Formats: sequence, C-alpha cells, structure tokens
Amino acid sequence: MKPIKVGLIGLGVVGAGTYSVLERNAEEIRRRAGRAIEIAMVAVRNPARADGVVRAGCEVVTDPNLVVNHPDIEIVVELIGGCDTARELIMKAIANGKHVVTANKALLALHGNEIFAAAQEKGVMVAFEAAVAGGIPIIKALREGLTANRIESIAGIINGTTNFILSEMRDKGIDFATALKEAQALGYAEADPTFDIEGVDAAHKVTIMSAIAFGIPVQFDKAYVEGISKLQAVDIRYAEQLGYRIKLLGIARRTVVGGVEGIELRVHPTLIPAKRLIANVEGAMNAVMVQADAVGTSLYYGKGAGAEPTASSVIADLVDITRLATADPGNRVPHLAFQPNLLTDVAILPMSEITTSYYLRVYVKNRLGVMADLTRILADARISIDAVLQKEPAENATRLDIVMLTHQTQEKNIDAAIAKIEQMETVVGHVVKIRLESLS
Ligand code: HSE
Repeated sequence: MKPIKVGLIGLGVVGAGTYSVLERNAEEIRRRAGRAIEIAMVAVRNPARADGVVRAGCEVVTDPNLVVNHPDIEIVVELIGGCDTARELIMKAIANGKHVVTANKALLALHGNEIFAAAQEKGVMVAFEAAVAGGIPIIKALREGLTANRIESIAGIINGTTNFILSEMRDKGIDFATALKEAQALGYAEADPTFDIEGVDAAHKVTIMSAIAFGIPVQFDKAYVEGISKLQAVDIRYAEQLGYRIKLLGIARRTVVGGVEGIELRVHPTLIPAKRLIANVEGAMNAVMVQADAVGTSLYYGKGAGAEPTASSVIADLVDITRLATADPGNRVPHLAFQPNLLTDVAILPMSEITTSYYLRVYVKNRLGVMADLTRILADARISIDAVLQKEPAENATRLDIVMLTHQTQEKNIDAAIAKIEQMETVVGHVVKIRLESLS
C-alpha cells in the first residue's frame, strides 16, 4: 500500500521530535499501521529550522495554507499552538476533508465543540492525544480502555511546570518566586509562565478530559481556575507536618447536589495525603488518577511534555488515523468517546456548590479563648474539624498560626465561616484556605 501523506504545521520542539521519531521508528510504525506514514510537507515560519531535521524530498514551505489545501495530504498535524491561526487552519483542513492531529489543548478546550461538529459533518477524525499530559496515553485510556465503566472522577497532576515548582518549594523550603526562577532557568517554565502558574494550562487539559469521561461538551468557561502563585512555603511545611503534600490538581468529578446530578470541574492547589501514590509524583512529571465503577482506581504516570514524549502521542494518533482512514466514519471511535448525538447536558457546578475538605490557616493574636471562638464558628456552620496544629512563628511570640483541617463541607459553608472568622478581633489578616482531597 502507498504511504499515507502527512503535512506538518510547526517545526518547534514537538514538530521536530515527531519528525525524528517517525523517521527513526519508521519500520516498526509501518508494521503496526499497515502502511508507511510519510511527512510529505512541512510548514515552518523560519525555513532554516528545517535544516538538518527534514530529509530531502519533503517539501518545506512557509505558508501553512499550502499544507491544508494540498490534494495529496490526508492528515494535517497542527503543532503551532495558540487559538486564532490554528483554529482557522484546522477548520480549513476539515473543510478540505483532511484528518487532523493536534496537541493544542487551549484550542480544543475553547473551541472543541465547533471543531468536532465540523469533523463529524465531514466524516474526518480529529485526534488529540498529545493535548493532555504529553506522552501519557490518557485520552486513549479514558476513551477506549475504560469504555465499560461509569467514570466517577479524575484527579490529575497535568502541568509539569507547576509540579516542578511545588516539588522544589517542598524539597528546599524555598518560596514560590525563587522556585519559579529555577524552573525558568532550567527551561521548564515559559518566559511568560502565566498559563502554567495560574492553572490555565491544567484547566484546558482537565476540561478536555471531563468531556471524554462524562460525555459532555467541552466547557472551559465553566471551569474554576486557581494557580499556585499565591501559595506560601509555610503552608507547604504545615501540610507536610500534618501528613499531606500540596499539588496543583485538575479535578473533574460527578456529584449530586440536592438530588440533582452535577459535575465539579476545578483546578487549584490541593492537599493530598502524602501516602497516596499520586502525592509522590515529583518534578516535572505528570500523573492522572481515574476512579471508575468497574475498574476501581487506576493511575497513569509519565512525562507530560518534551519533544519525544509528546511526539509519541502525536504518532500514536497518526497510526490510529492511518488504520481507520478507510473505515466507515460511523464505525470509528467518537471524538469525545460518546456518540455525538448522545452527549448530555449535566451542569458544571459553580464553585460555591462543590464539596470538599479544607486546610485553613488563621494568624491570630495569642489570647485566651481564641481557639474556642474559632471552633465555635465552625461548629455553628456544622463544619467538623479533623485536625488542629498550633504554631508560634519565630518572628513574633505574641502571634500564632492556627491550622485546621476540616471534614467535607460545601464551599459556600466554609466561605461563610471564613467571613465570620475574619471579623474576629483576634484574627490578623486573611484566612488562608486550601482545598483538601483524600482521594480515597
Ligand atoms: N507547559 C506544560 C507543562 C507542558 O508545564 O506541563 C505542555 O502542556
């Protein structure tokens, strides 16, 4: 059989990695796919980037429209990122009847519904394994491996930059700003690290996973997003003393509020018990924990970024498409795991309605009765306390840090209680609130 022709848009780290792995493992990949996969055209803004990467015979162009309009190209691989140009090119490729592979999580989290609908209409595939957790085949696992299950929840460390920063803060006792500088020096964090540290990148990824896990449309606008930039080293230390690690988790979970089904979709720093396997995922590594009714708990671990790990996912999609290109579109795996006409509209809950446990740190004047006042406010709000830690900061003996872990309650209850605590005359500044998940 003739090779399937692929057009690659973008020859950055992942594009070059894809090119090189596809060349290196060409024979192995052909034996799996049933035919050779040939990158016939590469679009790159600076053609000098192609020197030494692209072999003779592969056309190098600067205009990506030449790729999406090329009559012989069957699969377009989009690796330029961003939303505007990438969206335009992907929509053109689909309109031209081409299959698409993309690593673009922001695009799919924001415009996935429109892209999948267009692809469905045209009978083409849009594959995106590389968009979530780099080299970990989590999309395949959720969409196919776990297809027998009712998936209950996903909790993932899906941003390597922030996991590296949190690991450094804990290991070395350094503050956020110092750890961020280290991450930038080592090339983990971007020059503008906002999407990583403010949780946006993780929210894109968990939004995509929530759609596949629960059979709902992608709804990034309803996700709660909180990053790690305000996290203090002292809270990491106290959490550790209580047997917990703080991780930036992307959480998607089915729940029932007042008898009505809802979905929690949230990204925020989270205390998790140090004894959980996922709590021990360190440095820039990623991991996704899935809880489902038949299989129970499963954990997927690996590199969430980098040239070849991400290329591994891009090429897995290329092989899938190569195998299925001639299949009846109705017999292919649906883009979002569920048949497109059977997606449901279970509501994503506002943050005030979610239920979890909490770590609270209250900075107080060291006076008689302060602990009693705090516990009374929580008891009046029917919030039960699980553990208490009292620490005198070295710099001020007349003040105390009181740390409390609560049992589960709704976010609106804890917020109401915090508002009352902050009105106490003995409380200094704001209460630090960090959510806690037992992941049991
Ligand atoms: N910036 C991402 C991370 C990698 O730090 O995990 C690409 O998704």
